[in-house]
Amino acid sequence: SRPFRIAVLAGDGIGKEVMPEGLRVLDVAAAKFGLNLEFKHFDWASCDYYTQTGKMMPDDWKTHLSACDAIYFGAVGMPDIVPDHVSLYGSLLKFRREFDQYINLRPVRLFEGVPCPLANRKPGDIDFFVVRENTEGEYSAVGGKMFEGTDREIVLQESIFTRTGVDRVLKFAFELATRRARKHVTIATKSNGIAISMPYWDERAAEMGKQYPQISTDKQHIDILSARFVLQPDRFDVVVASNLFGDILSDLGPACTGTIGLAPSANLNPDRKFPSLFEPVHGSAPDIYGKKIANPVAMIWSGALMLEYLGLGLPEAEQKPYLDAHNAIVKAIETVLIQGPHTPDLGGKSNTTDMGEAISKLIK
Ligand code: NAD
Ligand code: IPM
Ligand code: MN
Repeated sequence: SRPFRIAVLAGDGIGKEVMPEGLRVLDVAAAKFGLNLEFKHFDWASCDYYTQTGKMMPDDWKTHLSACDAIYFGAVGMPDIVPDHVSLYGSLLKFRREFDQYINLRPVRLFEGVPCPLANRKPGDIDFFVVRENTEGEYSAVGGKMFEGTDREIVLQESIFTRTGVDRVLKFAFELATRRARKHVTIATKSNGIAISMPYWDERAAEMGKQYPQISTDKQHIDILSARFVLQPDRFDVVVASNLFGDILSDLGPACTGTIGLAPSANLNPDRKFPSLFEPVHGSAPDIYGKKIANPVAMIWSGALMLEYLGLGLPEAEQKPYLDAHNAIVKAIETVLIQGPHTPDLGGKSNTTDMGEAISKLIK
């Protein structure tokens, strides 16, 4: 069959340090399992490109990316050079919207060998998914300012909740739960304080729940839900949340498993009309950029999720090498998390490349 074409956008900061490790592992997996991958490297969607051109991307960015089956993305953001809302609205947030990547799927898992900051937790106690709405909600550029510069200044920013947008993320979460052992969905809400959008969200969740009698649900306000990530992480299986709540939960969850340097994400257009995007949950980490100590696992695991997703889009007879490659990468990550080498966020002294090489050697 024809090769999968993958757009590679390393972006900024540690995006540029972890991307080579992600590609190293994908290359090894492709050779071992006979995958047909073709990489297209682009230097835009970066603050360097912005410095040179005054914009984050060329005008024809969409043509380039639409020709690809998936986007492998590092991280964007150099807030000392380009304001974050400019760099992110000019790149990542554009991709999510323009390519209708309405699901942001973010696994959270405590691995053997990784010290857990929560007391008395062992692998198996933390193993859930955050299903984050990814195209609407609190992330909008709708609003405006009045009386700017005066003490009557007013700033308004709208949240957007559409029936289509809410229902499709809920449906994805319930469907995911049907394939899991515990078959439980937690609905993140804040209908006590946010009196229009969140009661609507709850109402649609209750409606969707009726179609899944085999799935148990609970609805938790985001404040106590966050507390329970820390106090009772074992009660979660699939957590479905609006864009902003999902963003916060998907840093908090991985922090509870030791480091956000492990957490991958899949920005999915499940209709497969547009390319999906695979990236670490973390950002460009300017505070450690240049030291080559960034943990490459989030990038590498995101690559595995990409292979799994691409594979599942093939006719059943052709899926196996892609699913095997995904499993082999996750297995290699598990092994290296047990035996090392480890980057400093895991308590080790090794660098980004040491870890990437160790993972790729286990796959060869
Ligand atoms: P961040 O995720 O970049 O970093 C938060 C903290 O975690 C930092 O102390 C950092 O050193 C540490 N960290 C992150 N990734 C790590 C890794 N792989 N290994 C070890 N330590 C790691 O978040 P931030 O500091 O809020 O944001 C920095 C920039 O990144 C900002 O411009 C922000 O907008 C951007 N950002 C981009 C993305 C993205 O492109 N998807 C995501 C989050 C933040
Ligand atoms: C993430 C990031 C982005 C988000 C930022 C960089 C806009 O934090 O992918 O989690 O808020 O979605
Ligand atoms: Mn985030």
